[in-house]
Amino acid sequence: MLIPEKGRPKEEIFAELERLKARDLDWKAGRVWAYVYNPGDETREVVSQAYTMFLVENALDPTVFPSLLRLEVEVVRMLADLLRGDENVVGNVTSGGTESILLAVKTARDWARAERPEVKAPEMVLPMTAHAAFHKAARYFGVRPVVVPFHPETYRADVDAMRKAITENTILLVASAPCYSQGVVDPIPEIGALALEHGLLFHVDACVGGIHLSFLRKMGYPVPDFDFSVPGVTSISVDMHKYGYAAKGCSTILYRDKRLRRYQIFACSGTTGYALINPIVLSTRSGAPIAGAWAILNYLGEEGYCRIVRAVQEATRRLIEGINAIEGLRVLGQPDMCMFSFTSDTVNVFQLADEMRRRGWYLQPQFSTPLSPRNLHVSVNYGTVPAVDALLADLREAVEVVRRMPPPDPGLVQAVVAALVENPSPETIARVLSLAGIRTTELPEEMALINEVLDALPDELVDQLLIHYFNDLYA
Ligand SMILES: Cc1ncc(COP(=O)(O)O)c(C=O)c1O
Repeated sequence: MLIPEKGRPKEEIFAELERLKARDLDWKAGRVWAYVYNPGDETREVVSQAYTMFLVENALDPTVFPSLLRLEVEVVRMLADLLRGDENVVGNVTSGGTESILLAVKTARDWARAERPEVKAPEMVLPMTAHAAFHKAARYFGVRPVVVPFHPETYRADVDAMRKAITENTILLVASAPCYSQGVVDPIPEIGALALEHGLLFHVDACVGGIHLSFLRKMGYPVPDFDFSVPGVTSISVDMHKYGYAAKGCSTILYRDKRLRRYQIFACSGTTGYALINPIVLSTRSGAPIAGAWAILNYLGEEGYCRIVRAVQEATRRLIEGINAIEGLRVLGQPDMCMFSFTSDTVNVFQLADEMRRRGWYLQPQFSTPLSPRNLHVSVNYGTVPAVDALLADLREAVEVVRRMPPPDPGLVQAVVAALVENPSPETIARVLSLAGIRTTELPEEMALINEVLDALPDELVDQLLIHYFNDLYA
């Protein structure tokens, strides 16, 4: 593919974009139960208009675009208040949950360098349910992740294990509100007390839960404490582009006070160029996500969010009851909000995901761990509320279809796993992929066999395999 010598008519361009889009799953019909957070057409239009208004403005320099400074500060203030922080809470808008988490870890590392210089090999303690972004941050910033188990019944972090994992090198504790995989909130007050006892920083990842849980609490639902009202919590990440229903590219990182946030900011004036000052990872950044977030907070207001949150929570309740009522399926743990996962001892859930996909639904496969079975993840959002009954009806049928299917050939799975474990070279990976009928430059339609193999392999090998596959896919 080359840049066309002459520009193409815009009608042709949009027609082609539409054609490409037609291959995606239909999120507008509420069929995608992950990745997408749809507040409805009217609200989405407001976000879209605000987004477009600030598409070109650059938040890199608040002296040139003071509007963006104002909008960012107001977004942060609104969320700080929602999360029961006082006027000392500060923060920034970032490009997503991952960036917020990267910054929380980098800030902790730099805080420790300044305030605990005796720590030469910093560590953070996190439950296995914490998001992979913390492992990415650990890799990027040279902080060792010390992973502790969760309770296999409740999926909540094992606080005793966290306590035992603390060493003289520990700088940061991490917990989720809730974790993505099973939607349960960790025991934040107990972990906060642990952080205070040991003089550690404590980051609460409320990327998915910050907004939804806070409005649930305001409406009187039972919600475990997870925000700045909990002593010991020093920073919180909250995504606007998830259950804030803003456009993608928008999260926030909040700190209990400015003394800590100082370690987040980077400045460099020693080049021939302009003096660079970046409060976050990105330097040039569009004003669009900030304006979109500001617009939706103001457009929906507390009333609008409560309306959405109530509808989503009610749909989640019906869905969980409906899934638990299907013979052979069961929801894991006791989810605290509108995301959860379910498993089965009698039906292959990877095949079930494929069967649902054939019917136009996306349910997200998650692998087993030593403490949890393989399962399918479901994130309910406002756009999926009308599709609950249709999803349950198809799920009931799909379970019966899968029951009658032969499972992925165990002999083939075993042979592939053995070959990869013995020699995980790029050549073996390529051979295995072609054996499984997978062309590396195309996306596979059926994932059950691949998931079966991946689930049986050690994590490090899965990571290698996926890196190899993606390295070829984006070609
Ligand atoms: C709990 C949690 N934290 C962090 C992230 C990372 O957010 P993002 O995908 O916006 O980078 C996610 C994403 O799903 C999440 O669920």
